[in-house]
Amino acid sequence: MDNPSPPRHVAIILDGNGRWAQRKGLPRLAGHRAGVRALQKVFNFIRQSGVHYLSLFGFSTENWQRPIGEVQGLMRIFANAARRKAKEILDARARFHWIGSAAGLPGILVQRLRQLEEKTKLEDDFHLVLAINYGGRDEVIRAARKMAENTPPNNSSHWTWENFSKYLDTHDIPDVDLVIRTSGEQRLSNFMLMQMAYAEIFFTPTLWPDFTGEIFQQALDFYASREQRRGALPIFGET
Ligand code: IPE
Ligand code: MG
Repeated sequence: MDNPSPPRHVAIILDGNGRWAQRKGLPRLAGHRAGVRALQKVFNFIRQSGVHYLSLFGFSTENWQRPIGEVQGLMRIFANAARRKAKEILDARARFHWIGSAAGLPGILVQRLRQLEEKTKLEDDFHLVLAINYGGRDEVIRAARKMAENTPPNNSSHWTWENFSKYLDTHDIPDVDLVIRTSGEQRLSNFMLMQMAYAEIFFTPTLWPDFTGEIFQQALDFYASREQRRGALPIFGET
């Protein structure tokens, strides 16, 4: 059977900011700023779409390998956005979550991300999850260390997925149903790997700063047409 309801959790790998800027003869940071504007443009559309969790890949544990100027510029953009967009997030009655590691991030950014989490913690209708300094493998290792510290030795029966997943950054966030990646790349790039185990994946050639509500709707239509099996067989008679 096709998916009858909208995806509960959509994760976007927003890619193509740099190419967008280069094609216009602009510095890469102008592309990242345009990326923030693109998000602003489509946020209300997504908020009204019936989706309850929106996750965004802002900065990966691998992005530190970029030139220092770009990394510092991105950190400034995130810190400004965390301050300037706080009111809009509150007005949208969205709960904000930051996933990733604090290690290496500017203190002011970590402080603003945590403040925003704190201020919105009572909201439950819509969740905005921002991954900054996040990598799926890094998350698994951090979770495994925490669980090992909290689990008595020689207690291997305790190591179930249900128990382990409580130590992930996403312990209070459901699995991803739909992944969208922009800019024509067709990879997951270490984003929420465990949470995407059963996700449908939609690729679009559009660069992230040119993303629109129409493309988001295309992704939802794609999701609606997919048949979810999760390892089982289609119900007899409904091939
Ligand atoms: C995605 O755009 C934004 C971040 C990873 C911060 P890119 O910066 O990866 O853009 P391209 O891939 O170079 O075009
Ligand atoms: Mg890229």
